[in-house]
Amino acid sequence: MWAIVLSTGVHIVDSNTGAFFTVQIIRDISSLRQAIFSLRCDGGRIALVPTMGALHDGHMSLVREAKRHADHVVTSIFVNPKQFGPKEDLSAYPRQEEQDAVMLEGEGVAILWAPGVDEIYPDGFSTTVSVTGVSEGLCGGARPGHFDGVATVVTKLFNQVQPDVALFGEKDYQQLAVIRRFVTDLDMPLEIVGVPTARAEDGLALSSRNAYLSSDERARAAELPRAMREAIAAMEAGSAVDQSLDALHARITNAGFGPVDYAELRDAASLRPMTMLDRPARLLVAARMGTTRLIDNMPVKSGS
Ligand code: PAF
Repeated sequence: MWAIVLSTGVHIVDSNTGAFFTVQIIRDISSLRQAIFSLRCDGGRIALVPTMGALHDGHMSLVREAKRHADHVVTSIFVNPKQFGPKEDLSAYPRQEEQDAVMLEGEGVAILWAPGVDEIYPDGFSTTVSVTGVSEGLCGGARPGHFDGVATVVTKLFNQVQPDVALFGEKDYQQLAVIRRFVTDLDMPLEIVGVPTARAEDGLALSSRNAYLSSDERARAAELPRAMREAIAAMEAGSAVDQSLDALHARITNAGFGPVDYAELRDAASLRPMTMLDRPARLLVAARMGTTRLIDNMPVKSGS
């Protein structure tokens, strides 16, 4: 198998069979519309997997799931400046488009939608999609404006690609709740599918930001999912929610996590804070290992 990477697409030639595949790389909206029109002429459903690139197995699990829901998969790569705060890692965010394109090609993705910033936010751009309620607290509290940026760009991506279904990782659980909310509120005609978090063997949730961790930090980071599982087991066995969260906080701080942005139990659907485990819940944590902010979340079952 070898790959020829051109600015317009990646062509893969299977050296055994001679088979030739291609993923189209598109950077402007009018070419995207034509390409989507051609896919639609073939019939079948279109799935969109929005990403910011630096693809890993977690993204690939979204793409593989997308193939189960649709006949054609479009993946977008756009590092969206509107969802980064002024002190966040926008310029340092990992960018590796060629490698990403080869990975997408290997999964049979039809289109890689990779617009530049000016294509998404041309001069004069003045519209914001803003969701209240589920966007409040958690990452919305720690990263003001973040979910406005996400909701605005995802709305644009939906309008550009017009998919039948779009897939998002449950790793960004609050993001998924925000997206489900505006899709319902704005009567958008597509299905949203949440895909369970892909994890490394030691349990750490896969994330493009894991690339920032030193090997020592990476090893210590695995304490986060372990401590979360322990807290969940305690709460499900009847321990008080606040004590279990305090123990979780202490355990990850001992493991070398710095400021803990939040470690909270929330209602699994509405994301309202919970102090008692009396309905299906979600444990959500964000904490810094060195300078890297890691997030994770897991389901919590209630006995009642
Ligand atoms: O989850 C992400 O990678 C981003 O927030 C998304 C949904 C692609 C919007 O920029």
